[in-house]
Amino acid sequence: MEKLVLNGGRELSGGVTISGSKNAALPMLCASLLTKEPVGLKNVPHLRDVTTMLTLLGQIGVEFSLSEQALVVLNSANVKSLFAPYDLVRTMRASILVLGPMLSRFGKARVSLPGGCAIGQRPVDQHIKGLQAMGAEIEIGNGYISAQCKKLKGAHLKMDMVSVTGTENLMMAATLAEGETIIENTAKEPEVVDLAHLLVKMGAKINGAGTDKIVIEGVKGLYGAEHSVMPDRIEAGTFLVATAMTQGAVDLYNADPRSLKAVLDGLRKAGADVEVRDGVISLRQNQQVKAVNVSTAPFPDFPTDMQAQFMALNSIAVGQAKIEETIFENRFMHVQELRRLGAKIRVRGNLAIVDGVKCLEAASVMATDLRASASLVLAGLVANGETIINRIYHLDRGYERIEEKLASLGASIKRSN
Ligand code: EPZ
Repeated sequence: MEKLVLNGGRELSGGVTISGSKNAALPMLCASLLTKEPVGLKNVPHLRDVTTMLTLLGQIGVEFSLSEQALVVLNSANVKSLFAPYDLVRTMRASILVLGPMLSRFGKARVSLPGGCAIGQRPVDQHIKGLQAMGAEIEIGNGYISAQCKKLKGAHLKMDMVSVTGTENLMMAATLAEGETIIENTAKEPEVVDLAHLLVKMGAKINGAGTDKIVIEGVKGLYGAEHSVMPDRIEAGTFLVATAMTQGAVDLYNADPRSLKAVLDGLRKAGADVEVRDGVISLRQNQQVKAVNVSTAPFPDFPTDMQAQFMALNSIAVGQAKIEETIFENRFMHVQELRRLGAKIRVRGNLAIVDGVKCLEAASVMATDLRASASLVLAGLVANGETIINRIYHLDRGYERIEEKLASLGASIKRSN
């Protein structure tokens, strides 16, 4: 099993280019199922989750080519099976995003229930409820969702809670439905907006993406299109936190500050000097970080995907911080590992109270989920001594060459078997 070996104490400096967004690329790959014409996606990040999604689409019969410049061209003209098997879906929950497009274009789909994961139950009832309201007959049995429908019909949907992939699945399904679909209480995440941009380029009629009400006018068919995936705001946030924790100075290229406002506000509260100029986000930190209270919520508020990273920051901050996780019921898996590094964290339900310590002490730790792994890397950058992070396949799901990028900024970090 691969692991990362870090020696703490070096401040990060220099510049790093942010890769394309995992959570924007994954639904876009599935959107290629909506047309028989080629869809070209640029700036697709080279990640395990993207490879898993391409494997799944390949099994369904989507043909695709990859180029060195992170360009993926997909063609769903010869789709042969409308089946997403458990052995793939269980490794990546976002596989559920093939359901809406397959049902909408082909009228049939059999997709494994994703099942839970380290951070929570992760049900998909909102996806199913919305598709049923659009006329799909859906049976659930033996761990699979079996859906069919002659032709989806537009409907007025109101989601019971904000769901990012729920919004994306229903928005994609509605593009080829008969008539108008209104979806209320939709997710406003930038990744939803980026997907809508691609769908509109493909000929879809969508209004309101980025607000809590999206209106889609169904069309007869969609065309091929080309689109460049937005930058990954969580990768950008992670590197900014790494710079603040190590009291360094780093410029982020190809990052979009508009998608990171709550995170930049948090970093400024931690004492960072953050500047945005000509598409470059520059962060300088010349003092020990200050404790920052965090409460996660749907966009535009503080992203749950940055919660673990801010817990690492607060572990070595001056003062006490309260971190509230309101989205997932079990997203504190990093706490016990951070404690192994000397962090002082108490958990009361979905609230973590972090008393900053002057310095963490290196240890061997275990990655449990994607963003928890990121928080361990951040802690290893500042801990005294050599930190070893095991099970880093979690990390590779969502970060492209993280050790190379961090090493280029001066970190002592390497991958080893
Ligand atoms: C997306 O997951 C992201 N994944 C997650 O990023 C992110 O943490 C999450 O949105 C919240 O921002 C992708 O975009 C691929 P939700 P998603 O549906 O869509 C409940 C990462 O680290 N819910 O917005 O699965 C659910 O249990 C990953 O990159 C239902 O109850 O999350 C959760 O409590 C982790 N029923 C809340 O809603 C449903 O049908 C929000 O979940 C759907 C969701």
